[in-house]
Amino acid sequence: MPVIGMGTSSYPPADIETAKAAILEAMRAGYRHFDTAFAYGSEKPLGEAIAEALRVGLIQSRDELFITTKLWSSFADPAQIVPACRMSLQNLQLEYVDMYLIHQPVRLTEMISRTPVAAEIIRPLDVKGVWEGMEECKNLGLTKGIGVSNFSCKKMEEVLSIAKIPPAVNQVEMNPVWQQKQLREFCKSRGVHITAYSPLGANNTKWGDNRIVESDVLAEIAKAKGKTTAQVALRWAYEQGVSIVTKSFNKQRMRENLQIFDWALSTDDLEKIDQLLQRKGVTLASILGPHDLVLELDAEV
Ligand SMILES: NC(=O)c1ccc[n+]([C@@H]2O[C@H](COP(=O)([O-])OP(=O)(O)OC[C@H]3O[C@@H](n4cnc5c(N)ncnc54)[C@H](OP(=O)(O)O)[C@@H]3O)[C@@H](O)[C@H]2O)c1
Repeated sequence: MPVIGMGTSSYPPADIETAKAAILEAMRAGYRHFDTAFAYGSEKPLGEAIAEALRVGLIQSRDELFITTKLWSSFADPAQIVPACRMSLQNLQLEYVDMYLIHQPVRLTEMISRTPVAAEIIRPLDVKGVWEGMEECKNLGLTKGIGVSNFSCKKMEEVLSIAKIPPAVNQVEMNPVWQQKQLREFCKSRGVHITAYSPLGANNTKWGDNRIVESDVLAEIAKAKGKTTAQVALRWAYEQGVSIVTKSFNKQRMRENLQIFDWALSTDDLEKIDQLLQRKGVTLASILGPHDLVLELDAEV
């Protein structure tokens, strides 16, 4: 998995042409890892961008790309997982994805078109049944790897206890103001790779805030190094040994976000970042609504 991936979840949601143009621009900038999900509505523009990149010779083969997509909670039912994966592949115009993740550890009994949702449609995830469906997707060759997203240590224990094929990845919010030390330690001990999402705190989105881009501590470190605050946040994540998915549809910022490899943070910088106040930014409750089961899941570490 390339260490930096381009996120494709945009707020407000971009139209197909805007998203496709941004993805093609990202390929020109050097991105080869793209993170999408059925729920983002970005599978189709990503599929169109890949087809065009092949047509114009921006890439020579689909194998040069690493594509991650996710099983939406409305399909988190054992019988629906293989069909949902096939539907995502159709949207992407691909024969396989590189990584297929369970998007979040809940099931919704209905398809939804807006959030928050009614409490009655939220159910606990059937971890065993759903994971077996994910394993089937891999066994059928629809995906090269399978994993999870937004899983706590407790949920990881559950899936690891029943998995024939263990999850390769847990994609979670991780950044200087939500460092996820306990979860990272746990996943490392069980051989599960972490991908950090919202590494910039998802500023200017409905689900994020400006705590990172407006952090005085990060700005001071950045100034001393001739870097930007965003680059310091991304470099910090990289130095923790995780992969990163970050979204920019802006030509300059998407390039800026790749410039994190030929310099390093000092021990002093890392200590300052270590002391930043910690608070989870992206909660399931902020998306699905403050229902009991959702609040319980949010409270798990
Ligand atoms: N698994 C999950 O449940 C989950 C949840 C959330 C996100 N994700 C994935 O992770 C990806 C990234 O997370 P995210 O989109 O939530 O947040 P993010 O990457 O932390 O932040 C994106 C925001 O930062 C802005 N930005 C990008 N580069 C910047 C820079 N150098 N300086 C200042 N602002 C900058 C972007 O605006 P511009 O586009 O205008 O640059 C956008 O508003 C998503 O797109 C999605 O693929 C997964």
